[in-house]
Amino acid sequence: MSGEAVCRAGPSLALIKYWGKSVKGDNLPATPSLAVTLGGVYSETRARVADDDSITVDGVRQDTARFAPFFDALRSSLGVSVRFQAASINTFPTSAGMASSSSGFAALAGACARAAGCEPSASDLSSIARVGSASAARAVYGGFVLFPAGARRARPLFGPEFWPELRIVIAVTHRGPKPVSSRRAMEETRAGSPYYFSWIKESAALLPDALRALESRDLELLGETARRSYSLMHAAILGACPPILYWLPATVAVIHGCAALRADGVGAWETIDAGPQVKILCLAAEAEKVGRRLEELVPGIQTIVCHAGPGLTWREPRGEA
Ligand code: DP6
Repeated sequence: MSGEAVCRAGPSLALIKYWGKSVKGDNLPATPSLAVTLGGVYSETRARVADDDSITVDGVRQDTARFAPFFDALRSSLGVSVRFQAASINTFPTSAGMASSSSGFAALAGACARAAGCEPSASDLSSIARVGSASAARAVYGGFVLFPAGARRARPLFGPEFWPELRIVIAVTHRGPKPVSSRRAMEETRAGSPYYFSWIKESAALLPDALRALESRDLELLGETARRSYSLMHAAILGACPPILYWLPATVAVIHGCAALRADGVGAWETIDAGPQVKILCLAAEAEKVGRRLEELVPGIQTIVCHAGPGLTWREPRGEA
């Protein structure tokens, strides 16, 4: 065992959103989620065996308490007692609603496992990553991934090659961190929002349409179902007490921009996570136009075109992360 490893993961963008935790604990999701792992942006984590657990993200030391359940679950699942020093970088804004915790914990699980000399299955890595962030259970796999409600691990459905024409345009509306972490906002939604249980019920009801749309690569049905999922999720979040609003004026402007594009016959369906960024589903032939039109309509935003990407990949630990 070399005692050091470097692992890369793409963010897992949910089309049907995970929002809420099972009462059984263990960071099990209360809603099913269906996601695409993005290629073109990633988290890369270097881990080495050390005297104590520690982690930096983009050079900033993280609170070890947030990571302790993850490291404990990792050791118990791998049957090792070593500790880890990890350094992670993101090629996109961190903690800004770009799913950095999904790619971050997935890459961390992959890097620590290899640094400890273990080769767990992707399914076991998915279960380990879930303890860090439930969305990270999906980011272990490439392509299109299902995470059933209450499950311990995500399940790969189709590889990235299943839908080569699909593009996801990320509209970066703000680069700073979001005001409330998704973990806290999820808890405040459950505790304070009168819409929380309706959200749990309605979100599960969206899954069959989303699966059917994905299987038949029906972008319009998938896009409309994804719009419904994020809208219901944010409605529930707004119902928290006090309300939580992740959207900025530019976020709303991009939503209107997508509606204008659709009215012009350009297929562009947006989705929004716990932050101000907007991710837009479209086809490769129209991706450039979508990005350009949105940048014209909403000055100050930046667009990044992504596609369905791979699951965890490792590289030789030579050179800096
Ligand atoms: C809005 O996976 O970050 O991106 O499990 O508490 O760490 P924890 O939450 P996290 O939540 C992601 C929420 C979301 C939707 C999604 O990715 O499904």
